[in-house]
Amino acid sequence: MILINVLKKKKEKIPPIWIMRQAGRYLPEFRKLKKKAKGFINMVYTPKIASEITLQPIKRFGFDAAIIFSDILTIPDALGQELTYEEGKGPKLKKMSIDEMISTFPVNNNKEKLHQVYKAIKETKSRLNKETALIGFVGAPLTISFFMLDSKKEKKYKKILFFLKKNKKKAKALFNILENEIVNHSIGQIKAGAQIIQIFDTWANVAKGKDLKMFSIDPIKRICTKIKKKVKKTFIIIFPRNVGRAYINYIYKDVDCISVGEDVTKKEINEIQKKKIIQGNLSPETLFNGGKKLEIETKKILNNFSKKPFIFNLSHGIMPKTPIKNVEKVIEIVRNKK
Ligand code: CP3
Repeated sequence: MILINVLKKKKEKIPPIWIMRQAGRYLPEFRKLKKKAKGFINMVYTPKIASEITLQPIKRFGFDAAIIFSDILTIPDALGQELTYEEGKGPKLKKMSIDEMISTFPVNNNKEKLHQVYKAIKETKSRLNKETALIGFVGAPLTISFFMLDSKKEKKYKKILFFLKKNKKKAKALFNILENEIVNHSIGQIKAGAQIIQIFDTWANVAKGKDLKMFSIDPIKRICTKIKKKVKKTFIIIFPRNVGRAYINYIYKDVDCISVGEDVTKKEINEIQKKKIIQGNLSPETLFNGGKKLEIETKKILNNFSKKPFIFNLSHGIMPKTPIKNVEKVIEIVRNKK
């Protein structure tokens, strides 16, 4: 299993490859199943469907990892902030005040919802070939809380961060609840068969300096420590998106791999690769556009990262209209068949 070997710091001749959001709308088989499945939420919470979708990109492309089809917003949903999905508009969480969250979440916790994710992982694991790793995932507290406190979907995450900083006590209480739930959900996924957990902090770069430390770096470190304390044999990939110079501040004993964006510099690559595995970092736009530039950029990444074991991936999720032939081309180049 080459992806696991790389996470064990063994260099493979050909780097493992998977792509974020690899099960999604760019695939005709996904769109077809979605039509039958009665909406996104139903897809996430029906293990048979979630498992089928997880396997679609594996069957088509033979990626080195499958990532379970789910969403980072299942945690607030399970805690009692109902998640709905409007076609074309994306996910929406019920409007709730931070006080209501803090007082009701510990009581509401609906384990049944997250159990559907574990069932989907078990089913996927039983159907997956032995060479392909299975990844579970969670959102980090900062990114999840941005969605939780943005029921109007204004996407003013700076404003939400400002609110969290002004209400430190409440923010701490909310983060505590989220951290515990993120740890439990990670362990649930590992016990069900996920060999790796990826922690998505998609909006980490809204916070800078001390704020980044307090709201992203420190919570992620605590989460990783708690997971590894409970389950020793697991791997953690963290994805603090576009934090630039701060990637190196996420180097930590209980982190195995850092997923980086195009904003990483050579100096930082060297610094990270001394201690940790790197995952990254092809631009989704470049993948979408294809052509000569795609070839050049893919080869550049192979050149920049391949001195040490590394995982080929994008810098963020694949765009919904990406041509399938471009994905095929990247895989061919990485596996050196072109
Ligand atoms: O990578 C994978 O293939 C696994 C599945 C996965 C989904 N969401 C399925 C999904 C993963 C890892 C996520 C994580 C996620 N979800 C994040 C963090 C990573 C990132 O990409 O930023 C965030 C912020 C969410 C919340 C979320 N879910 C948003 C903002 C949206 C709407 C945006 C969009 O792409 O439409 C979703 C919906 C969603 N989650 C889809 C999928 C396949 C699209 C569903 C559809 O309309 O068909």
